[in-house]
Amino acid sequence: MSRCRSATERGLCAALLALLLAGCASSGTPKVSLYERLGGSEGIDAITFDLLARSVADPRIADDFAEADLVNLHERLVEQLCALSGGPCTYTGRDMRAAHAGLGLTEADFNALVEHLVDAMRARGVPLSAQNELLAILAPMQREVIRQ
Ligand code: HEM
Repeated sequence: MSRCRSATERGLCAALLALLLAGCASSGTPKVSLYERLGGSEGIDAITFDLLARSVADPRIADDFAEADLVNLHERLVEQLCALSGGPCTYTGRDMRAAHAGLGLTEADFNALVEHLVDAMRARGVPLSAQNELLAILAPMQREVIRQ
């Protein structure tokens, strides 16, 4: 470091080095789980409620929910999102293929639901990085959910 010659500059360089090392060390510490960044049990409950409220009010997909037991759907979805994000829950519902068989869902339906999930997370102030992490977990499920 050619700039670390004088005592003042050496002091500054030492401080910068310490900051750099502290940054490296903290990147190795365990980060807060996705479950916690979604707001834990309360956050996931509220996000799921909002997601379903937005979905049943959306003329593009409302008909898909006409026969659904929304109370059960809310409970199962909360369990599932909690378990998938590293929370202390066990998913007790059907597998995704069985749960959506016969609904004839399309990619457009899937995208509409994801849109509502993003809006619900945004409304709760979920950080963008956490939103993206949850979407990345759900994305591969599309092939089990849409019409087979
Ligand atoms: C990654 C995307 C999705 C996930 C994680 C998901 C999750 C779930 C879960 C956990 C259940 C409850 C299963 C059970 O009762 O045992 C369910 C049921 C249901 N889902 Fe999805 N779902 C997804 C996409 C969609 C989409 C795109 C739609 C429609 C636009 C939809 C509509 C429904 C309906 C109507 C039911 C109730 C079926 C019934 O009562 O028989 N889902 N879903």
